[in-house]
Amino acid sequence: IKIRLDEKDPAVVKLRSGQSEKDVDDSDRRGTRVRVTGRVHRCRAQKDVIFLTLQDGYGLLQCVLTGDLTKTYDAMTMTLETSLEIYGEMWEVPPKQHAPDDRELHADYYEVIGKAAGDKEAITTRAAPDADPQTLYDNRHLVLRGDHASAVMKVRAALLRAFRQTYEEITPSCLEVTPPCMVQTQVEGGATLFAFDYYGQKAYLTQSSQLYLETCLPSLGNVFCVAPSFRAEKSLTRRHLSEYTHVEAELDFITFDDLLAHLELVMCRVVELALTNPQIAKLILDLNPKFEAPERPFKRMRYADAIEWLNEHDIRTGEGEPHKFGDDIAEAAERKMTDIINRPIFLTHFPAEIKAFYMRKDPQDPRVTESVDCLMPNVGEIVGGSMRMEDYDELMEAYKRVEIDPTPYYWYTDQRKYGTSPHGGYGLGLERFLAWMCGRFTVRECSLYPRFTDRCTP
Ligand code: 4AD
Repeated sequence: IKIRLDEKDPAVVKLRSGQSEKDVDDSDRRGTRVRVTGRVHRCRAQKDVIFLTLQDGYGLLQCVLTGDLTKTYDAMTMTLETSLEIYGEMWEVPPKQHAPDDRELHADYYEVIGKAAGDKEAITTRAAPDADPQTLYDNRHLVLRGDHASAVMKVRAALLRAFRQTYEEITPSCLEVTPPCMVQTQVEGGATLFAFDYYGQKAYLTQSSQLYLETCLPSLGNVFCVAPSFRAEKSLTRRHLSEYTHVEAELDFITFDDLLAHLELVMCRVVELALTNPQIAKLILDLNPKFEAPERPFKRMRYADAIEWLNEHDIRTGEGEPHKFGDDIAEAAERKMTDIINRPIFLTHFPAEIKAFYMRKDPQDPRVTESVDCLMPNVGEIVGGSMRMEDYDELMEAYKRVEIDPTPYYWYTDQRKYGTSPHGGYGLGLERFLAWMCGRFTVRECSLYPRFTDRCTP
């Protein structure tokens, strides 16, 4: 006989498993009747008792089935991920026993809402660390139900909130804008452009919203955006995605030093906000027990000094040669250097030839640009930024140097014609920031559904 509890009965309190009992009316006494819904995350059957850990996205709750409840067909064939509705009483956990939040629900009635097939249990609980990576990517929708993947996504959401809060609270504040993803200009070189047909015209998926942010400065003041950027990267590396979330900001009437100071402030404040939230701090430290907020100021190092440092430490180029001025420092060398120095580095003043066309030259040394990469241990480059060329003629020359037809850039060039200004900005890869904070091996673990070479499913 199905006994339906009367939902209007004040004794039946709806409790999401993530809430503490104290959150729910005066229910912090033992024996409060509740109704919970969720999916079976863990299941352990003993003689005459079944322990189910229910998950609902807000937290975990241990539910104890005893007596006749363990003898039904549903109970005996219980599979992980089965969705259930359970009624019962909340008790604290007996001494010396462990359960999430030290509480458990003693069920007196439950109903299966959707039985799970039970064939992919390893994926949904532990994301099977020894499983073939392709299998895990194919089953990303189930991997996301696992503890690690869901923790990373929760930290990701917290970081997005923290960035928005930080841009609101700094002086002067930055205004959020939403630039287009479908564009007809490149920002970071033609080699990584995704092109598509736009009503018969050639268009691209944006590589960066920077050029659009620059056009906002005159009327909106400093601006930022959180938008996807797309790169048709040819190489499969642990830190390159084809689509990633780009946090970009652009600041008007500043110097290069102002840009570095702002960047340091934003990054440290975001980390601080994440760590002051106890739930998020716990997730971060569970994922990355060694994580510590970075110390300010970050180490500053000029590109030319980095080349010397690499040679002093006998770290070679990909071809096994010593580094020389003008080389693009490869990912492996950059990571070795960052890991040895083991603190955040602002690597600055890259030669103009190896950087994007729009970067401002250093007035003291025109061989180099007022550019910066922020490097973090374990990940390497997390941020790329620079001051922008403000002079019209210089910009026209720069287009020529990289063989870009200036015609479709008329709106960008116009910024130098109608009241130019010293300005600069940066882009931060959210997945790389997360990989650094959460100690993940690859940025692919930091994206909800990662896109990389040959992977666009699910
Ligand atoms: O250094 P990048 O290419 O700089 C720009 O796009 C500038 N226009 C940004 C700006 O000044 N507004 O990219 C900036 C950051 C990198 O430091 C990295 O964190 C991330 O974007 N990034 C990627 N992340 C994941 N996968 C990729 N393929 C990435 N390419 C860049």
